[in-house]
Amino acid sequence: MKAAILGFGTVGVGVYEMLQKCEGLEPGPVLVRAGKVNADYKTDDLDQILSDPSVHIVAEVMGGTEPAFTYVSAALRAGKHVVTSNKALVAAHGLELNALAREHGVAFLFSAACGGAIPFLHNLALAAQTDKILSVGGILNGTTNFMLDAMQTDGCDYGEILAEAQRLGYAEADPSADVSGLDALRKIMLACAVAWGVLPSEGLNHEGIDSLTAADVAHFKEKGLVCRLLAHASLDECGRLSAFVQPVLLPQTAQEAAVKKNFNLAKYHGENAGDILLSGQGAGRYPTASAVLRDMSAISLGHRNMFPAGLKADAVHNELAKCRYYIRLPREAAGAFTFESQEEDGGLVRGVTAPMPVSRMHALASELRASECKLFFAAMEESK
Ligand code: HSE
Repeated sequence: MKAAILGFGTVGVGVYEMLQKCEGLEPGPVLVRAGKVNADYKTDDLDQILSDPSVHIVAEVMGGTEPAFTYVSAALRAGKHVVTSNKALVAAHGLELNALAREHGVAFLFSAACGGAIPFLHNLALAAQTDKILSVGGILNGTTNFMLDAMQTDGCDYGEILAEAQRLGYAEADPSADVSGLDALRKIMLACAVAWGVLPSEGLNHEGIDSLTAADVAHFKEKGLVCRLLAHASLDECGRLSAFVQPVLLPQTAQEAAVKKNFNLAKYHGENAGDILLSGQGAGRYPTASAVLRDMSAISLGHRNMFPAGLKADAVHNELAKCRYYIRLPREAAGAFTFESQEEDGGLVRGVTAPMPVSRMHALASELRASECKLFFAAMEESK
């Protein structure tokens, strides 16, 4: 099977190199930007790729929603199987792309878009057919895990370690998606869609690590706590969904605390299976390219869909999920919260709240930041 590649950045180069060495698969033309065609195998003409009957699969690894959405839609309409690593695309346009792929009888697979090299979405899609999935989540961003691990273990500076994550090809083109938690949010949206057939459309919350300081990390260390950025989604007894991303403070013995470098820990809980945990490299050229090629191999085995046929969009209800929160903020803003325990640290208060709704905490943080208040917050242990 011949696979064309749209995009020749970190992942695209990895896919091209792997395809050259892979039995049963071969690289087709590579779409690059106009003015960047500097080799025979590169083209800036999508129609040339889509009209080529020898191209069976189109791998979209450009990132971003446009022109990726236009190109992937055209590829599906042209009867090409599509694999993508682009979580922004699938989170924004999953419904339309799922419908288009089914209409044209071609595959639409995106396991590289969630968990890097980890075969998470394939596994979850299979489990969801025969077991009731009660929760999904875990560490789903390699860049921030790499940063948190280095800050905790080696006392690294935030800016320097972010630059290192970019240099190693872990971060997005715009790394604010990583450090703000948006990248992990897109991934948990995909997991919700695979597990429950619901692509969350409203009510989501995400908080990243962009307000974290070296002093915060030193403070956690003193208390024997480790900070990780966790995604979480679950169903309550009435079938209502909550889904959010936020930093979480964990005891050193927690499984997530042992996840190092650019690794992810993707997990789900099935009513019958219980806890399933999958770990591997969550970011980087070859780990991500390996997942793109695995999807191609799944196509050759007849696999076509990760999303269920009746995929729909719906709101989530984060007012139903509650966490205790650790909050660091200036003393004059501390009255916005009722703390069960607190300590003063210079002009700062570091306090822990009683359990409060996730949506309330995220809304209060936005309100305070709108009035220039600098704060960091993290849930204590994992949200239930
Ligand atoms: N920037 C992403 C991450 C790449 O760090 O997890 C893999 O999706």
